[in-house]
Amino acid sequence: MAGPTDLGFDPWDPAFLADPYPAYAELRARGRVIRYEPTDQWLVPHHADVSALLRDRRLGRTYQHRFSHEEFGRTPPAPEHEPFHTLNDHGMLDLEPPDHTRIRRLVSKAFTPRTVDRLKPYVQHLAGDLVAALVHHGGGDLLTDVAEPLPVAVIAEMLGIPEADRAPLRPWSAAICGMYELNPSEDTAAQAVQASVEFSEYLRLLIAARRKEPGEDLISGLIAAHDEDDDRLTEQEMISTAVLLLNAGHEATVNATVNGWWALFRNPGQLAALRADHSLIPSAIEELMRYDTPLQLFERWVLDDIEIDGTVIPRGSEIAMLFGSANHDPAVFTDPDRLDLTRTDNPHISFSAGIHYCIGAPLARIELAASMTALLQQAPTLTLAAEPTRKPNFVIRGLEGLSVEVE
Ligand code: HEM
Repeated sequence: MAGPTDLGFDPWDPAFLADPYPAYAELRARGRVIRYEPTDQWLVPHHADVSALLRDRRLGRTYQHRFSHEEFGRTPPAPEHEPFHTLNDHGMLDLEPPDHTRIRRLVSKAFTPRTVDRLKPYVQHLAGDLVAALVHHGGGDLLTDVAEPLPVAVIAEMLGIPEADRAPLRPWSAAICGMYELNPSEDTAAQAVQASVEFSEYLRLLIAARRKEPGEDLISGLIAAHDEDDDRLTEQEMISTAVLLLNAGHEATVNATVNGWWALFRNPGQLAALRADHSLIPSAIEELMRYDTPLQLFERWVLDDIEIDGTVIPRGSEIAMLFGSANHDPAVFTDPDRLDLTRTDNPHISFSAGIHYCIGAPLARIELAASMTALLQQAPTLTLAAEPTRKPNFVIRGLEGLSVEVE
C-alpha cells in the first residue's frame, strides 16, 4: 500500500510536476504494479506492461457495455454531472466494441495517412504565416501565437466550424479536459458540465444546418457516413464525435509543441544540431514526444480479473498506466533521461496502442513538423525570453506559455 507520503509519485505536488521522471524511476524499481490509495488505482510504470495492457481485452475504457455501475461496484455519476457524461460516454474514446468499432470505422476514413497528407500544404502554409507574424513582432508567446492557433484552425477547418465561431473552442475544451485529471474537484465538474451543455447545443445547431445544406466538411461527412451494414451515427454520437475530435485534435498537439521547444531550449546542444540539420525533424518530433510525454497517464477498468507479477487485480479495479514512465523505461530506451534527437529505435507510447491508438497521429505529426520547420527556417535565432510556468495539471502536461524572442 502506498500513498503520496511514501512515494515520490505525487501528482498534486508542484515539485513532482516540474520533473516527474525521477519519481517514475523509483516506481519502476518498486515493482510492476503499485496500489495507490489517493486515487484508488493500480499504477503500472513499466513499458512492457503498459504496452501489453493497452492491447488486453480484459481491460476497457468503460465497463458500461458489460456491467451496470452497481454490478461493477461503482457509484453512478451525480445527476448534475450528467451532461458531461452523456457527451463523454458517446465518443469513441470512451466506448468499447462493438460501438467503438462502428464509430471508429466511420471516422477513420477522414484520418488515413493519405487523406491527411492532402492537408499538408494547407498546414504548412498556416504554420508559415503564424511564424512570420511571430518573427515580425520580434517574438511573443509561442503557445498563443503558434502552438495553439495551428491545430485549432486545422481541426476546426476539417469539421467546418466557421471562423467566427471558433473563439469558445479552447475554453470549452479546457473546461471539459479538466475532468480527465485525477480526482477532479466539484468546481472543475461544474465548469465541465456547463461547457458540455454549451458545446453540445452549438453542435446540435451546426449539425441541423449541415443536414439542410451539406458541405465538404467532416460534420457533413459524419451525417452522410454509413458502412456496409448501413450503420449510421446517432445525433448524440455525432455531437460526441465532433467534440472529441475538436478537443483531442488540439490539446495534446499544443502541449507537445511547447513542451518540445522548452526541452530544446534546455538542451542547447541538441537544438544546435537540429538547426544545423533539418533532416532530423522527424526523429526530433518522436524524441520530444517521448522525452516530455504530453499525456502522462491513461486509465482502464479491469473487466475480468488479471494478474500482474503475482498480484491479482480484481474485476472492478482501475489501472493507471503511466505513459511518461513507460517512455523513460531503461529496459526499452538507452539512456532514457537524455534527449537524443537522433534516436531512431524509439517505440514511445505517447499515441497509445491497441484499439484506442490515436486516430489523429498522422495529423499531429504533420502539424508538429510544420511548426518546427517554419520556426527553424524563419526564426533560426529563436531564444527563450523568460522561464515558463508549468500548468498545475498532471495528466495533460503543459505550460502556461512560452515566451520567446527572435533577434
Ligand atoms: C501530439 C498530439 C497527440 C497525442 C500525444 C495524442 C495522444 C492520444 C492517445 C494517447 C490516445 C489514446 C488514449 C487511450 O489509449 O486511452 C488518443 C486517442 C485519440 N486521439 Fe489523439 N493525440 C494527439 C493528437 C490528436 C489529433 C491531432 C487528433 C485529431 C483528430 C486526435 C484524435 C484522437 C481520437 C479521436 C482518439 C480516440 C481514438 C479511439 O478511442 O479509438 N489526437 N490520442
